[in-house]
Amino acid sequence: MNIAIIGLGNIGSYLYKYLLSNKKILEKKNNCLPNVIYVSAKNKKRKRNIKISKNKWLANYLDATKLKKIDIIIELIGGAEGPAKKLVFNALKNKKHVVTANKALIAKYGDKLSKIAEENNVNLEFEAAVCGGVPVIRALKEGLIANKINRVYGIFNGTSNYILSSMDKENKNFKEVLIKAKKLGYAEKNPKSDLNGEDVASKLKILSSLCFNSFINNNIFVEGINFIDKFDIDNANNLGFKIKLLGVSEIIDNKIYQRVHPTLIKKTSYIASIDGVLNAVIVDGKPIGQNVIQGEGAGPEATTSALVSDISSILRGNIKFPFSISNNERKKLLYKEISDRSYSAYLRFDVVDKPGVLSNITNIFSKNKVSIKRLIQNPSKSKKFASIIIITHTSKDRFLNKVLNQIEKKTYIIKRPKLIRIGIN
Ligand SMILES: NC(=O)c1ccc[n+]([C@@H]2O[C@H](COP(=O)([O-])OP(=O)(O)OC[C@H]3O[C@@H](n4cnc5c(N)ncnc54)[C@H](OP(=O)(O)O)[C@@H]3O)[C@@H](O)[C@H]2O)c1
Repeated sequence: MNIAIIGLGNIGSYLYKYLLSNKKILEKKNNCLPNVIYVSAKNKKRKRNIKISKNKWLANYLDATKLKKIDIIIELIGGAEGPAKKLVFNALKNKKHVVTANKALIAKYGDKLSKIAEENNVNLEFEAAVCGGVPVIRALKEGLIANKINRVYGIFNGTSNYILSSMDKENKNFKEVLIKAKKLGYAEKNPKSDLNGEDVASKLKILSSLCFNSFINNNIFVEGINFIDKFDIDNANNLGFKIKLLGVSEIIDNKIYQRVHPTLIKKTSYIASIDGVLNAVIVDGKPIGQNVIQGEGAGPEATTSALVSDISSILRGNIKFPFSISNNERKKLLYKEISDRSYSAYLRFDVVDKPGVLSNITNIFSKNKVSIKRLIQNPSKSKKFASIIIITHTSKDRFLNKVLNQIEKKTYIIKRPKLIRIGIN
């Protein structure tokens, strides 16, 4: 089969080299030769660490969607709009198989794109868009096909996991760890979408629709790790927890709750042991029970592993519905706000240390029927300020937030109060 790779950055150039040097073994395994006949990127003159013969370079990347001899287009440009969107829509309309690592594009246009792919009987494969080398999409579509999934959750972003686990282990604050992450190449120059939870949200939306046979839905609660500091990490530790940025999607009474937020997880749990840039996806289903897949979530090596899995699926003629089930069969399920979900929570109030503050805070809790399980008061050395840490019993999200908002308005509050949800129950 003839392949065009469009986008030759971090991922595209590594994939190009990989396909050249592993052509024979892939042919043996798939009984079909993967032949890269064209490549393209934005700037032909840019210095690259790969050698490309002149006759392989497509001056206009969109020509890949028109040339008859191209069977598979691999989109490695990135971004939900612009050239990547144009390329993938046109390719599918012109009956080309498409492989992409672009989570932003799939999370936004996956439903429309899968409809076009299905109508034209071509593949739209996006294993590399969710958790890099962790083969969760193929696992859901093939290995776990027998199962009715009721929950998927995990650590889907290596950058934020690296930052949280380094703050914990290296006794450093957020800023210091972020600088180191950038130096090591674990964080991009602009790591905004890694830190604010948006990257995890894109991946979770894709996973939800695959797990629950539903369309992609934007009703999702998203909170990043920007507000977590070393003091929270230490408090969590003292209480027997780790803080992890989790994505959780679950179906309860035919309603789906999607949420991304930092979570206090028991130190003894499996997910608490996933440190550094690793990703882990946990799927709960019937009859399988709990299934875990863990591995490198990003980088050229892991991403190429996922891309080659997708390419191989096409080489073997394994044409399937992109979201595991025909578009006609996908359901419009009800996606609910998390305000009705219940959990216990960690709340932190930094206050002026004066008489009456503590009783005022506990009064607000009791008025809102949120019961306190544990309360720790840490006065500062100067004795002028104090941090009050409260662990609550299980309560609805909206009541926890009500407490937080009411206390935030008080004049004794010196810093924005914090709420970190506990466990995934
Ligand atoms: N990096 C990772 O670890 C990772 C992991 C999983 C998924 N992904 C996904 O993989 C995709 C590629 O990521 P990357 O890290 O390789 O990005 P990158 O290094 O920024 O490369 C982007 C490539 O797209 C090309 N490009 C930009 N605008 C173009 C246009 N108008 N026409 C044609 N080509 C254009 C660029 O051309 P020039 O080279 O000429 O500038 C460059 O080669 C993204 O969707 C990303 O989310 C990345």
